[in-house]
Amino acid sequence: MKEKFYITTPIYYPSGKWHIGTCYTTVVCDAIARFKRMSGYDVFYLTGTDEHGQKIEKVAKEHGESPKSFVDKQVATLKELWKKLDISYDKFIRTTDEYHEKAVQKIFAKLYEKGDIYKSEYEGWYCTPCESFWTKTQLSDGKCPDCGREVELTKESSYFFRMSKYKDRLIDLIENNDEFLQPKSRRNEMLNNFLKAGLQDLAVSRTSFKWGVPVPFDKDHVVYVWLDALTNYITALGYGTDDESLFRKYWPADVHMMGKEIVRFHSIIWPALLMALDLPLPKKVYGHGWLLLGSDKISKSKGNVVDPVVLSDRYGVDAVRYYLLREVPFGSDGMFTNYAFLSRINADLCNSLGNLLSRTTAMVNQYFGGRLPVTDKKTAYDAEIEKEINGLQGKMSENIDNLLIPEALEDVFALIGRANKYIDETMPWTLAKDENRREELKSVMYHLIEVLRVAGLALMPFLPETAKRILSDVSENPETGEFGDRMRYGLSKEGAAITKGEPLFKRIDVNKESKEMEKLAGEGKEEKKEESPKGKNGEVKEEKKKKHGAEEYKEITIDDFAKIELKVGKILTAEKVEGSKKLLHFSVDTGERVRSIVSGVAKYYTAEEMVGKEVVVVANLKPVTLGGVLSEGMILFAENENGDVISVEPSKRAGGGATVC
Ligand code: ME8
Ligand code: MG
Repeated sequence: MKEKFYITTPIYYPSGKWHIGTCYTTVVCDAIARFKRMSGYDVFYLTGTDEHGQKIEKVAKEHGESPKSFVDKQVATLKELWKKLDISYDKFIRTTDEYHEKAVQKIFAKLYEKGDIYKSEYEGWYCTPCESFWTKTQLSDGKCPDCGREVELTKESSYFFRMSKYKDRLIDLIENNDEFLQPKSRRNEMLNNFLKAGLQDLAVSRTSFKWGVPVPFDKDHVVYVWLDALTNYITALGYGTDDESLFRKYWPADVHMMGKEIVRFHSIIWPALLMALDLPLPKKVYGHGWLLLGSDKISKSKGNVVDPVVLSDRYGVDAVRYYLLREVPFGSDGMFTNYAFLSRINADLCNSLGNLLSRTTAMVNQYFGGRLPVTDKKTAYDAEIEKEINGLQGKMSENIDNLLIPEALEDVFALIGRANKYIDETMPWTLAKDENRREELKSVMYHLIEVLRVAGLALMPFLPETAKRILSDVSENPETGEFGDRMRYGLSKEGAAITKGEPLFKRIDVNKESKEMEKLAGEGKEEKKEESPKGKNGEVKEEKKKKHGAEEYKEITIDDFAKIELKVGKILTAEKVEGSKKLLHFSVDTGERVRSIVSGVAKYYTAEEMVGKEVVVVANLKPVTLGGVLSEGMILFAENENGDVISVEPSKRAGGGATVC
């Protein structure tokens, strides 16, 4: 029998517009769910909507609609969005579903009978946007400590959940169970700020509005929306209904995934409720970082297109999925900019992946009439390629199990990069000219097709549409069920039809397209033309050139130095800046995002030489425009006595984003 795997997203507030950040949790869970299914697990992937509460009631009113008709429309657009993004959820729960409301009432009554819910007086401050109660001491400057907005003083009779009773068990859970709360950094925050600071009982009913699940034995009260919402993870499986078979099969959850701002609800309130219900606890609660726009959690546009539908229609769904899966590092924040988005598509999807597929399929067609050749002959580079292919699934599984999603994708792209290098090493176009080297040529083609076949399978969970196109070009069944043993080297059959299809992704002129995107965002504010003061950014300083030898240094303190943020950046693409002899334009991955950086080094390096290098970047330099191109940082170069300019690089692979200290 298959092992089960239950994964959930939070249920979404259907209150506003969806932006690229809101898609993050769902796309990540989708990739994990698909990977697990292909790895042979019986997966249940749950998502849905959180439809009750004062916030929804308010927004509906502003739209002049009843809450229910408002959320119905919102839910319809959300479901369309998930369909567009190829989200393979197994169930979509709405908290207005009747079975859910009834189950919430049962749970509430059960806890009341048990004495874990009791009635009392409540006085406190309420933050409507967060649907959270706060005591006076918890407020920060009289405002909501989570979001900084105004709070309202509320006094009313309320039911309380005896959460304080579970304090010791909760502390033990978070302190002593390494698996439970991830990433680790969230643990101390929960322990110190909430649990050890004194855990209070939680008000779990309201009388000041009506849009909620009525407390079954006291119709003046509606159930607190977080209690209503959190229980979705079990009611969706039928808990508290006539049919609890799914619940018995899938509970406890293997992963609850969510943004870091709601970790508190999932790592404290939710386990306390489960303890009170005598139910097993989820195995893992994972709080991911945010996708930022500028320095804000995405909420408004700043010339960046953040509408996922617009982005998918223009660049393809898989470009959006790829960006989301690749760009937010484990536990920390990622940043969305038009430029970073476009550069990613170009560097990874178009250049690396797209080129490998089109070059390889073109060669098999040119040299072998589109039929895959097989041979016993090996080239000197084959053993390494075979090893890389056979190692891929294991590496990816480990990364997925540790929720290292960008790393799992990088595993695939490392193989793709290796195969592109293999083409340069084996030079098939040279082999093709020599009749005596026909067998080597066959071997090269076979290995390249095997890379594409295995990479195609590996990409299925991440980029389903693109992966299917790759697989059908190399004659592997795209209607895949599971990986099974198909990730092993050597399964392609002699004579298999190899098709040269349309390019997977069109090459983008990033500078031109960035401007188009600004227009699209409807906020194409005229960019301030800022010419750099000579030598300030990107130009190699003239006066410095004279300074070798007896040099006088102006001393700075360690505090002065600490102001400069140096980071390792990986150069993804490079090109000449039009109309300039000096300037090269790079896209550089500095961990948190891909930056546009211009350097005056065209005399010393060709664009091609720079691609793939890891360099040192001044990351907190004020952006400027150089030669009409945005430059968000400076790459460090060394200059010797002869006036040679040499890039400064780490002595070992450090990875884009590593701190230089
Ligand atoms: O919190 N970057 O719902 P929600 C990354 N209803 N993730 C983001 C994001 C961004 N810029 N903006 C939103 C709720 N998200 C509750 C949950 S569960 C019992 C109840 C993520 O619609 C956010 O972190 O505000 C969360 O994981 C999801 O979108 C839904 O957020
Ligand atoms: Mg939110």
